[in-house]
Amino acid sequence: MRKAKTEIDQRVDALLRKMSLAEKIGQLNQVGGAPFAPGPKVEDQIRAGGAGSVLWLNESKRFNELQKIAVEESPSGIPLLFALDVIHGYRTIFPVPLAMAASWDPDVPEKSQAVAAREARAAGIHWTFGPMVDVTQDARWGRIVEGAGEDPYLGSAMASAQVRGFQGDDPSDPERVLACAKHFAGYGFSDGGRDYDPVYLSETQLRNIVLPPFKAALDAGVATFMSAYMDLNDVPASANRWLLRQVLRKEWGFEGFVVSDAMAVGNLVIQGHAKDQRDAALRGIKAGLNMDMSSYTYTGGVADLVAAGDLTEVEIEELIRPILAIKVAMGLFEHPYVDESLLEKVIALPEHRQVSRWAAQRTMVLLRNEGGLLPLSKELKKVAVIGPLANSKESTEGSWMVFGHQPAAVTVLEGIRAKLPEAQVTYAPGPEIRRDIPSWFESMMAEQSRKPAQTPQESEAAFQAALDAARTADQVVMVLGETDMMSGEAASRASLDLPGRQEELLKAVAALGKPVVLVLLNGRPLSVNWAAENIPAILEAWEPGTEGGNAVADILFGDVNPGGKLPVSFPRKGSHAPLYYARNLTHSPEDSQMYNPRYWDGLPVPLYPFGYGLSYTTFAFSNLQVSSHQVRIGETLTVSVDLTNSGVVAGDEVAQLYIHQKWGTDSRPMRQLKGFQRISLEPGETKMITFQLGPHELEYWSTNAGKWVQDAAGFDIWVGADSQATLHTDFEVIA
Ligand code: NOJ
Repeated sequence: MRKAKTEIDQRVDALLRKMSLAEKIGQLNQVGGAPFAPGPKVEDQIRAGGAGSVLWLNESKRFNELQKIAVEESPSGIPLLFALDVIHGYRTIFPVPLAMAASWDPDVPEKSQAVAAREARAAGIHWTFGPMVDVTQDARWGRIVEGAGEDPYLGSAMASAQVRGFQGDDPSDPERVLACAKHFAGYGFSDGGRDYDPVYLSETQLRNIVLPPFKAALDAGVATFMSAYMDLNDVPASANRWLLRQVLRKEWGFEGFVVSDAMAVGNLVIQGHAKDQRDAALRGIKAGLNMDMSSYTYTGGVADLVAAGDLTEVEIEELIRPILAIKVAMGLFEHPYVDESLLEKVIALPEHRQVSRWAAQRTMVLLRNEGGLLPLSKELKKVAVIGPLANSKESTEGSWMVFGHQPAAVTVLEGIRAKLPEAQVTYAPGPEIRRDIPSWFESMMAEQSRKPAQTPQESEAAFQAALDAARTADQVVMVLGETDMMSGEAASRASLDLPGRQEELLKAVAALGKPVVLVLLNGRPLSVNWAAENIPAILEAWEPGTEGGNAVADILFGDVNPGGKLPVSFPRKGSHAPLYYARNLTHSPEDSQMYNPRYWDGLPVPLYPFGYGLSYTTFAFSNLQVSSHQVRIGETLTVSVDLTNSGVVAGDEVAQLYIHQKWGTDSRPMRQLKGFQRISLEPGETKMITFQLGPHELEYWSTNAGKWVQDAAGFDIWVGADSQATLHTDFEVIA
């Protein structure tokens, strides 16, 4: 039952009265429980009251052992918060967050993260480090897989849905976990898409593009934030007073707490910002950073700083309060332990796999379907399933599977075999793919990276075996893309091409003249330019999770009609990044007579635009209307459009509304998404869809004014199936 705020405050006051300074500082310390984590012995820290939270542990029995020490042996008996990165599923894995955004259906992340929360909580985890709500316009950045893509409006919808899914609406709900909006803020804009590199962003970009999904998470009640690693405009995000105090607390009124990213407080020294650990602790606390994730900088330095008069105990208490308040609100003092037999019962719930399959179906994007090659017939007799990812459980589940998780996904090969029990389904992986340079994560987690690479002879033999498999088939399904270790943290790359010999194999297979379907498994946009011209059917399946292979088969064989849409533009080359649709106009627009190409060696137009995706049916938008062509500042207008399923099968379309403010205090992007709805329609059916455009959609942060403004100005509206929609109307806002 939800506790009243007054009760929570009283209990926090009572706790603070009996805690020593050392214990108070302990609550600000998050201890790394994994073998790789630095720091003193975990048990000793907890026993001394020196830990508020533990991360990187994943075992119910161990949680209970440590909790017992905290509750029974530490001075004030304050329970620990156990935290882990449950990003897109705990045991039952859901599509990666980028894929969830491709559903354009907030129910997908909400329901998926609710299941993830139930499983994680049953294991004893209280707090997940998600959702990652970093907008990025750079497909080279590895962590694009963890977020919702390039758009702040779509990203905000996905952020709040994930928070609702993780947290529900009552912190004491024993089937939910605390969420954490990360990485505050700007991490998706690192120079060149290189992970961890510095970020330079204007206040306009921050307020209009980067911050809105964080604000949406906050409005949905997110309990915690995580500060990012990198320098933002020369001030590390984890010591950034403007972000953590001015924006988050003062302007937005955030009452929860902020944890640093791992070791980020200590890193202030390495980053060339703080003089030493003591200085780093001072900067963290002064910036309002509540919890130090495993750098032990607070435990090392804060007591000295208080003794020296550089910090007061009141300043420390201010940072502890929200941590204690959350523990009280969750009911951890009454129920500190987890039932060690619970997880096995919870993960067996059939609903969990059903949600996973449904989510995967809804996230896949049909990129091409020339001549209606898809859906395939279930009468096929001989199918060859080819590619290094076709039977990879790791890459089907995707990025962020850590801490003892055993991949158990249904692969595409298995999904196709299950769908065609009578057919002969042959499999050939082709040459292996691997990163040119492994990361620390990869060497720690991916078994493949510890195996020797294929020799050129082995690679060639695998290539030829794949061609042999294709030769004898009536239908080829190529499953290509990137492995789970090729996107995620420390997984940025300069090129967006299919890695390794995959394209060469694709060309060789296509040259055999067999019908080929390409299924992409990947956590970022890929520049599949050749395939987009030459392979008749392409399905973007992302990293689809536990039921991924079944969902792919459901779509390939027509049991499900795909309706996902790209949450990010697909560039034709890595060097075209950052590439995004919401650019400003220039003096030389593409449709003008004076047009000059942006590059002379290939236009940086997307291979597939933001919002794009096909269906097995066709749709028509018509009758675009506005309730009034003139409204006053502050008023809301209604936009309506008719959407018809003009084909012969049922399907889903995502109606997308874009605006362009034609003049005003500042220049505004040529298009901005300001509304979307995913609609299911029977063949021949028409539905009228309405959108509201009011101050929330029309205001923006202005550089010229130095504040939020809503201008009296002219606006274009387009509604349609992607960011290049042509159905147009307009309106004017008057003062
Ligand atoms: C570092 C990552 O940047 C962050 O996203 C993650 O939550 C923490 N490590 C904890 O694992």
